[in-house]
Amino acid sequence: MLPRLKARLTDRTASLITEIEQSLHLCPELHAMLTEGLADDCPLATADGGYIRAGFDEELDNLRQLAQGGKEWIARYQAAQIDETGIPNIKVGFNKVFGYYLEVTNAHRDRVPATFMRKQTLKNCERYITPELKEYEEKVLAADEQAKERELWLFQTMRDSVHEHLRQLQETAAALARLDVFAGLAELAARRGWVQPEMSDQIVLDIEEGRHPVLDTTMPQGAFVPNDATCSAEDGMLMIITGPNMAGKSTYIRQIALLTLLAHVGSFVPAKRATIGLTDRIFARVGASDELSRGQSTFMVEMVETARILNTATPRSLVILDEIGRGTSTYDGLALAWSITEYLHDRVGCRTWFATHYHELTQLSESMPRLVNLNVAVREWDDQVVFLHRIIAGGADKSYGIHVARLAGVPTAVNERAKDILAQLEHDHRDQFDRSTIAPPKSSSGGALQMTLFGYCDHPALDELRGLDVGSLSAEEAQAALQRLQTRAQEIPAIG
Ligand SMILES: Nc1ncnc2c1ncn2[C@@H]1O[C@H](COP(=O)(O)OP(=O)(O)O)[C@@H](O)[C@H]1O
Ligand SMILES: [Mg+2]
Repeated sequence: MLPRLKARLTDRTASLITEIEQSLHLCPELHAMLTEGLADDCPLATADGGYIRAGFDEELDNLRQLAQGGKEWIARYQAAQIDETGIPNIKVGFNKVFGYYLEVTNAHRDRVPATFMRKQTLKNCERYITPELKEYEEKVLAADEQAKERELWLFQTMRDSVHEHLRQLQETAAALARLDVFAGLAELAARRGWVQPEMSDQIVLDIEEGRHPVLDTTMPQGAFVPNDATCSAEDGMLMIITGPNMAGKSTYIRQIALLTLLAHVGSFVPAKRATIGLTDRIFARVGASDELSRGQSTFMVEMVETARILNTATPRSLVILDEIGRGTSTYDGLALAWSITEYLHDRVGCRTWFATHYHELTQLSESMPRLVNLNVAVREWDDQVVFLHRIIAGGADKSYGIHVARLAGVPTAVNERAKDILAQLEHDHRDQFDRSTIAPPKSSSGGALQMTLFGYCDHPALDELRGLDVGSLSAEEAQAALQRLQTRAQEIPAIG
């Protein structure tokens, strides 16, 4: 194949292709030796010989002929013995223990001549040896043995000359591997309508009608919904993507990272048009791959990965975060997701897409200028949810988890009950203006953030405190009230 490949690569203008072409070594002497020397159907093991082609080595040919000729002689010898003794069924046989022998059935035993020396007696026959047979046996076996030795020696010589071409062969293999990658990407680009991305040294990203390279191929033609993605200092650097489960959040953010990666390895990308700013690293925190065997819980793995991102990402990095804080309690998870968002926005400032089911995070856009809320379009009618897989501006205000549970086959009773509980929870945690009691944190004077998100933790003790008419209490009553309140307060788990 090599000469044909090399021929197709000559006189190309692309320097990479020229480089590959020059690294393809045809090694004509080696090629000639192997084609001339090796038989067409080489056996798997060298033990029985037969892998060196006839006509390649004169000495081997002679030895083989001798071994062959010897066998022919035995056939002739058998015929001659039948003739001489008049025993019609004399047979020459061979086994590993006794070598060659003449076999005479018991019916003809009395016609055996004196020159036959008995070697072995079996139930129905006797086996004999003659001096001539012995002599030829030695010749044949020796020739066969020598031929095998010669073959092995030739093989080892060939192997040595392959080894002499080691560097050229390895360079050729590496060049072929590169060529294979380029050819694969080129074929994909041509077949699936990928476009050449424009690389930019600005910290931007602008994809029009991008598609997930894998889902776009595995889903029926045209079923995958393309989506845009933009990111720049003006348009926003940190995108919060909310929306129900199964809407396509993970797909969307992975698609952005994959297209960025493809562009950086020199590939075309599945999109209508794409501008990709040079990126020093792509960080992805996705999926919940347990590493229990290494003694790390899902949440620990999640945090280790997050820590790595926060500690190493630069403004030139691209970060995708898929569901931070799922592996712990809701408040814990939300608080972490919240502060991680702030850190990425305020300190790192890198291009970030963060898919989250905490739609409370969408409130952060009020205080963070470069934060953009996106969500996945969903059509709701008749208590049913249809996923449109289209990314649109704005934050989601519902998570539809219960709808997804029903789609998955969770019993109706469980879903109905969950709906009631949800309504109750939502009612309990809304203030008089019907806003969630989880509020965006306010920056106080020193810039330190006061988290009010634990407003959820309302406690009966607070009600009592609110109801106390302090002015009318005697000193003893005040002390008793304080005592009571303290006891109740101690029941509240400490935060932080
Ligand atoms: N853009 C899209 N077009 C068509 N189908 C999609 C698209 N995005 C996602 N899907 C389908 O929806 C499924 C769920 O997507 P996923 O990204 O895992 O959702 P989420 O992360 O929001 O729960 C995918 O496996 C895929 O079948
Ligand atoms: Mg997801």
